[in-house]
Amino acid sequence: MNAISPRVFSGVQPTGNLHLGNYLGAIKKFVALQESQDCIYCVVDLHSITAQLVHEDLKGQIRSITAAFLAAGIDPKRHIVFNQSRVSGHAELAWIFNCVARIGWMNRMTQFKDKAGKDRENASLGLLAYPSLMAADILLYRATHVPVGDDQKQHIELTRDIAIKFNNDFSDRIAAAGLGTPIPMGEETVNGYFPLTEPMIEGPATRIMSLKDGSKKMSKSDPSDLSRINLTDDADQIARKIKKAKTDPDALPSETAGLAGRAEADNLVGIYAALAETTKAEVLTEFGGRQFSEFKPALAEPRGRKARPDQRRDAPADRRSRPYRRGLEGRRRAGRRHRREDDGRCEGDRRLPAVTRRLRGQAVAGLAIRRYVGPEGPAGEP
Ligand code: TYM
Repeated sequence: MNAISPRVFSGVQPTGNLHLGNYLGAIKKFVALQESQDCIYCVVDLHSITAQLVHEDLKGQIRSITAAFLAAGIDPKRHIVFNQSRVSGHAELAWIFNCVARIGWMNRMTQFKDKAGKDRENASLGLLAYPSLMAADILLYRATHVPVGDDQKQHIELTRDIAIKFNNDFSDRIAAAGLGTPIPMGEETVNGYFPLTEPMIEGPATRIMSLKDGSKKMSKSDPSDLSRINLTDDADQIARKIKKAKTDPDALPSETAGLAGRAEADNLVGIYAALAETTKAEVLTEFGGRQFSEFKPALAEPRGRKARPDQRRDAPADRRSRPYRRGLEGRRRAGRRHRREDDGRCEGDRRLPAVTRRLRGQAVAGLAIRRYVGPEGPAGEP
């Protein structure tokens, strides 16, 4: 009981459609971590009422996020998937943490500043205390690792600050209760109860930006649907949005340094790299010097387009692109599942680049979501 075992925790709010940023920044990592870690994934409805207390169809949204978890490949038989408000410990521990954390810490949170806007005095106290609840989500399970997008980094740092203060302030009591374990905190080792949780924010897609404005994060709340790829978009919608994505007139650079000051190019290259499970540098090795008119179709191949010669299955191995080779390897594992779930297009998909198939995987996940919750939302009570 005392020793802290490695454990992954993460959560997603049931507000609006999930988009490619949620998928690449978080959910794709949730799926991958299942192979090596004990994982707990949560639909955090208590968080979603901090900005707006009443939602049109909160139950439907909760179901929809849960469906997306399952459709993306989270296995609830091997790991835990649950709804935050069903476990009262989240709200209870959050209250204790409200009495540990300092108001100054909360006031410094950039997400609070962004969400509260100019009229901070009018924001709900819940919005200000949001990071306390997030710390409670994580520390209730003494989770050691939290996969999230870059926008949540400051909240994880605050979770560590709360754990440090709690462990320091109550180390004697924790020991007296026989609950402590030695936890290294900087130069000191303290008899603590809560671990110092590590954020897992790695790879080329930790912050996916709007397709319409490379300086803004891709977000559920952007009024323009063209700014994001929703998990429920079909293959044609995805292709159309990528085609319309904002870019600049220059060709792609051959090295990552050349992406500096080119936010939109950087974003699309990052998306390609994340979907192909490679690096931006590798993508630029392949596409450096080429125009967006060539790159965009590679990222979102329209249905029916013929594969380039180097992507054909019968092409010599040394002429195939690396993402394609990886895709072939991945297909051996994932192919059977895709063929079962897709709407009959998978045979042709074999020739498409790995990236395209993964974007189509989004559409497949969308189909699965619609199958779970139906186009009108859930049929019954959760
Ligand atoms: P939420 O619901 O806004 O987003 C869910 C996850 O998606 C990531 N994300 C992105 N990643 C890359 N690019 C983007 N444009 C992008 N947009 C969103 C988020 O970083 C997040 O990982 N506070 C959290 C939910 C939460 C939580 C927790 C997370 C509550 N308790 C405990 C981890 C642990 C949030 O609002 O995520």
